[in-house]
Amino acid sequence: MSACAAPGFAPGPAHPEELAAVADLAAVAFPGGPGRADLEAALAAATGRLHVARRGREIAGFALARRVVDELEIAWIAVGAPHRRRGVGARLLADLIVRERAAAPLSAVHLEVRAGNEAALAFYAAAGFVAVGRRERYYRGGEDAIRMTRTL
Ligand SMILES: CC(C)(COP(=O)(O)OP(=O)(O)OC[C@H]1O[C@@H](n2cnc3c(N)ncnc32)[C@H](O)[C@@H]1OP(=O)(O)O)[C@@H](O)C(=O)NCCC(=O)NCCS
Repeated sequence: MSACAAPGFAPGPAHPEELAAVADLAAVAFPGGPGRADLEAALAAATGRLHVARRGREIAGFALARRVVDELEIAWIAVGAPHRRRGVGARLLADLIVRERAAAPLSAVHLEVRAGNEAALAFYAAAGFVAVGRRERYYRGGEDAIRMTRTL
């Protein structure tokens, strides 16, 4: 985490009134990614997890995940461009995992990331994830996915 990491954005489960801000963030970070309906479904589902980093009404980042028994699958995580490299994403991810472990046993966290997304690969590696496989031409457009796992 960078030396100036005191952004004041607190991580935690999203509130319904924060969905619009999360959808805006998602639309910029992931064109063709999760839309408002996906976010609503995640909030409503027993296995869905939608967490945000907030300061007052400002949302700096979000994480969308799904619990599968004793494992967690991260679907999307993004931090708004002005807030990157300040530890917001790391705190969001760490807080999500801490809360899930506190709620019920958690053995591993899984995700897939674009092979060319060097920022995300470095981010997940810094968070303790290791590459465990590759899905060839997984994404539209033909880019491979790197499968990463953090065993707890
Ligand atoms: C990936 C992402 C969520 C990281 O969020 P962030 O808040 O900027 O990350 P942090 O500041 O918490 O970074 C923690 C550590 O991860 C690594 N890291 C993060 N971004 C990095 C980058 N661009 N290049 C290299 N390492 C990086 C560093 O080790 C960093 O620690 P440091 O700043 O002390 O060196 C953010 O870049 C983002 O939203 N990207 C666009 C969306 C995306 O690609 N999401 C992932 C795929 S779902």
